[in-house]
Amino acid sequence: MELREGERILVLGGSRGLGAALMQALEARKTNPMSYSRKSAVSFDFSQTESWPKIYDRIRSLNPQRIIYCAGGGPYGSFQKFQWKDHSWAFKVTFEFPASLLHFLLQNGKTDLEQLILIGSSIAESQPDPGAASYAAAKHALRGLVTSVQKEELPFDLRLLSPGYMETDLLPYDSAPRRAGLAKSPQQVAQLMIQSISDPALRMQNQSFD
Ligand SMILES: NC(=O)c1ccc[n+]([C@@H]2O[C@H](COP(=O)([O-])OP(=O)(O)OC[C@H]3O[C@@H](n4cnc5c(N)ncnc54)[C@H](OP(=O)(O)O)[C@@H]3O)[C@@H](O)[C@H]2O)c1
Repeated sequence: MELREGERILVLGGSRGLGAALMQALEARKTNPMSYSRKSAVSFDFSQTESWPKIYDRIRSLNPQRIIYCAGGGPYGSFQKFQWKDHSWAFKVTFEFPASLLHFLLQNGKTDLEQLILIGSSIAESQPDPGAASYAAAKHALRGLVTSVQKEELPFDLRLLSPGYMETDLLPYDSAPRRAGLAKSPQQVAQLMIQSISDPALRMQNQSFD
């Protein structure tokens, strides 16, 4: 699982935040990362169920050796304040699409894929997150899925890497964690993640990056 020069790595959600920092760090390691997101050159919206088969066709032809799923999010405020479509968006982008992606990859037969990394949240996946209920529900579900499927027989390394607070668009500028200086830079977290994903001794191990 060590990073190899020219390795084909697909970063889903690599245009901003942690994904962009990972793209940069992977380029510096002379791998060949590519991003799909709404604003990437290859544009897909993971909240749109009808686009999932097209994403899978594209992944089949790219035949990546490693995939990192970085997208996630949800509305911020009381659960009742938002419309159902807002919560549904959070479930789709944070849980349903990565769950469906994992299912597709497991059914896709023999490919060059060696590793799938899903990004969790050390806070939202393991404790209440008032004001971000649908996001927290989706992150809890992602953790439940990964830790269960990891106990099955898998053709590739599957890991859940869970950052703590980061200074990205996802975390409002005036939020308490930023004001308290608890948020790390996405570049710092990306460097730690790159070390971790390229360590074969950590196969099937989930990690937090608080
Ligand atoms: N920031 C934090 O404090 C924090 C803490 C714990 C965990 N996390 C997790 O870390 C991961 C990265 O978060 P971040 O802070 O880097 O978020 P971010 O700055 O909001 O970036 C999100 C990335 O996902 C893409 N994306 C979002 N919605 C999409 C959609 N519907 N379809 C396609 N692409 C989509 C965005 O690209 P486009 O806009 O181009 O589509 C962007 O590249 C997420 O899983 C998040 O839950 C973040």
